[in-house]
Amino acid sequence: MSIEQAENSRERNKNSLPVNIQEHFRREQALHPEATGALTSILTDLSRVAKSISYLVNTAGIKDIHGTTGEVNVQGETVLKLDERANEQFKEVLRSNPYVAGFASEEEESFVAFSPSEKEKYIVWFDPLDGSSNFDTNVSIGSIFAIYKRISDVKDLVNEKDFLQSGCNQVCAGYFLYGTSTMLVYTAGNGVYGFTLDPSVGEFVLPESYSRIQIPEKGKIYSINEGNSSKWNPNVKNYIDYLKTRDEDPCSARYIGSLVADFHRNLLKGGVFVYPGEIGKPEGKLRLCCESKPIAFIAEQAGGMATDGNNRILDLVPRSLHQRSPIVVGSKREVELYTEF
Ligand code: AHG
Ligand code: MN
Ligand code: MN
Repeated sequence: MSIEQAENSRERNKNSLPVNIQEHFRREQALHPEATGALTSILTDLSRVAKSISYLVNTAGIKDIHGTTGEVNVQGETVLKLDERANEQFKEVLRSNPYVAGFASEEEESFVAFSPSEKEKYIVWFDPLDGSSNFDTNVSIGSIFAIYKRISDVKDLVNEKDFLQSGCNQVCAGYFLYGTSTMLVYTAGNGVYGFTLDPSVGEFVLPESYSRIQIPEKGKIYSINEGNSSKWNPNVKNYIDYLKTRDEDPCSARYIGSLVADFHRNLLKGGVFVYPGEIGKPEGKLRLCCESKPIAFIAEQAGGMATDGNNRILDLVPRSLHQRSPIVVGSKREVELYTEF
């Protein structure tokens, strides 16, 4: 390309509209003519909820949305007013989406099946509000989702097996991050894309630099709740000590306490997030279906890794809806190192 052509193309790009979700999927669909538009539809609906949560988060201090409902959820955790609002909004959009046959939420004991129709081929898992304990203090939080093709017959109601599939069956997974800006990061098995919500037009747009995000192969950040170290297995302790003191790339600690925010930082900067099993709590804290598996899918698609210490997270087949699992996720070098410890 001549200098003149390059300048013309730069000039054209400057004047063209940014790529939003619909345009991005139109381009993707052109490469995959078999696509039905279902994922575009589901992601567009999920992003409508995220825009609403983003607005609530940004105006929480003046809208009496902080605080708890007084209820305890199926996880035994206190439910915030925003947890409940977010959960209800996700339920509402999924219920009216023509491609969704049912959903399961971190906040609900059981999955919900919609009356069957030929078009409803997908089920959605979601964590409506991740890191919610940070919300009252204006610290970053998120929402996580995973989309699977149902395995039951389309003429029947979806059943538990549809929600207990191996993470390898995810057709799409992602998260919304309500941080200093609001982002959507997702993968449909063809790289990781990061959209930013442009509040001036109310749309998620895709900057060129967040197309096909790659996690650095080596990291210098470790993220773990060090306050729990007395409950760790000695190997975990040795691993963290090693990361801090090794000669090459000694690591800094960064821990927000919102998986989405901690993972997102490490995705861009390189590093490892660990929520290990603990004495008396061998499965750790994070939920396999609505937290670990979607995050693992994104990590792998960005060139990183995710393990429970012994197995690849994506290979795990959950036995129950709210099963937990230890997780080590992030840059390849640091995750591989964990398995050696
Ligand atoms: P949630 O708000 O959906 O219950 O998730 C909280 C999770 C996760 O976001 C975070 O990584 C982890 O809990 C933090 O746990 P600790 O407070 O035990 O460190
Ligand atoms: Mn969560
Ligand atoms: Mn949650």
